[in-house]
Parts: sequence; C-alpha cells; structure tokens
Amino acid sequence: MTREGTMHGTLKTRALSDSMGLEVLNLDLRMDLNPVVTASLAKLLYEHAVLCIRDQELSPKDLAELGAGFGCLIEHNEADLRLPGLPGVMSLSNADDRDDRQLNGGAHWHTDLVHSAEPASFTMLHAVAVPEHGGGTLFANQVAAYQDMTDSQRELAESITIVHCYEGRRDGSMPLFEHDLVRDHPVTGRKALYGAADTGIGVVGMPDAEARRVLDEFARHATQSQFIYRHAYRLNDLVIWDNAQLLHCAETLHRARQANERRIMHRVSVRGWPQIDGRA
Ligand code: OGA
Ligand code: MN
Repeated sequence: MTREGTMHGTLKTRALSDSMGLEVLNLDLRMDLNPVVTASLAKLLYEHAVLCIRDQELSPKDLAELGAGFGCLIEHNEADLRLPGLPGVMSLSNADDRDDRQLNGGAHWHTDLVHSAEPASFTMLHAVAVPEHGGGTLFANQVAAYQDMTDSQRELAESITIVHCYEGRRDGSMPLFEHDLVRDHPVTGRKALYGAADTGIGVVGMPDAEARRVLDEFARHATQSQFIYRHAYRLNDLVIWDNAQLLHCAETLHRARQANERRIMHRVSVRGWPQIDGRA
C-alpha cells in the first residue's frame, strides 16, 4: 500500500487499504462542489469502490446537495429516521430515541436498497459524532470475491437470480425483488457478486432448502477476511461507496450512555450512475 499521495487529475489521494478504497486528501466539499469534482469522485469510486474525504464540515443540507450531484436522493422507508425538512438525509444514531432494531439496522452484510427495483448506486455517510471505541463500517470487495471463485462456483453464480426482501423477511409483509447474483457494473462493465448476503430469501427456480444452502455458501464466500476493509471513522469523515462493487456491514453498537460513546452518522443514498468520460 502506498503512503505517498497519488494525483488523479487535481485530486490527491492515497490508498485506504490493500483490499480497496482511497482517501482524498485535498478537497473541501463546501468550497469545491461542482459537476467536475462530482465526476472526478465518481470516476475514483468506479475504480476503488470506497472513498474517504476527511475533515468535511458539512451541514445536512450540504450532504443532500452533494448526493444530488450523484443521483436522485432516496427517502428511507422508515420516516422517523429521516431528518426533518430533508427527507433524503437519514440520521443513524445510537442515542436513546432509537429502538433496538434501528440501533443496529446496518449491522449485517448487505447492499443498500437491494430489496427494491432500483437499488442504491452510492451511499454516503458523514461522521457527525464518533465513539471512542468501535463504530466502524466493514466493506467486502465483491469484484475480488467474483474473481476468486472456482470455475464451477462461477458457473453456478452466473446462473442464479436472488429473491430479496427488506430485512430478509419471509412473512409477506414487504414486496419481493429479483436481482442476478453476478452483475456487470452499470458503468465500467466489471463483473461483481451482487446482493450475496442477508436480504436474499430465495433463488428463482430453486427449491427453498437448496436455495438456503446455496445462498449461505455464497454469503460465506463473499465476506471472507481477505476481501474486507474496516473503516475507522474520524469526526467529519465523509465516506462514499459504490454499492455495485461491495457488501458492507456496520459494527454492532450499544446505546450510548455518555458522550464518548455517541455515534451519529448522516446518510444519503442515491439512485443513478454519473457517466464518466474515460479520462483521468
Ligand atoms: C446502513 C448502513 C453503515 C454504518 O445504514 O445501511 O449500512 O456503518 N450503515 O452505519
Ligand atoms: Mn447499508
């Protein structure tokens, strides 16, 4: 992993880990937000799957504007998680006002909004309060997971369409959506495993017991340690990821009892894929 900065056009970056991710070193999004910067960030995301831009003092409105440059903001289906007046921005928190399910809503391997017809392209988290311990996000590189399969695993994976439901519910309370397990990236065309964990409740055309076994096996494959990067947040980190190339998982939280245990993230998820012109 290089510790030196690398230039991508005007953006100075360095690797976040060996498995994936870039840190952008010279950007102040309050000053520099414009379509050219958005396109440069999108291009880096298509190549590296996760970006972290440190020290971004963004208001929720700034975050919504940033998101809107990438695509169409998605309003979360649980209305009480949306920020008042900014329905496209969601507040994740371990404060007292959250029930147990909301507290750890992201603490499982998943793909954002895969339980919908058009899942999220990008998700952004802005670190508004960071606990002293824990509170990271794990990312599993699904391009690498796709590449690291045997021929027979790959053949099976290519033939599978997963049936997804919100929170993996099987009680018919939420609609079902189908997505192929192997997808070409909508912009780069690079193949990756997609939605390989958690929300899958079945496989099209496969008996349930066999589907369960196959899905468990792909989930296990997709989340092996060599594919994982753990992001440890600093205050005012802005982290953006490309849901087409990774799975992610919040670390389990307990409810904050004091200030140094508080974790507050403002989140935006978008639909839409900014096109890039192919140049750096
Ligand atoms: C989510 C999620 C990650 C985190 O809200 O969908 O994955 O670290 N959050 O909070
Ligand atoms: Mn998520």
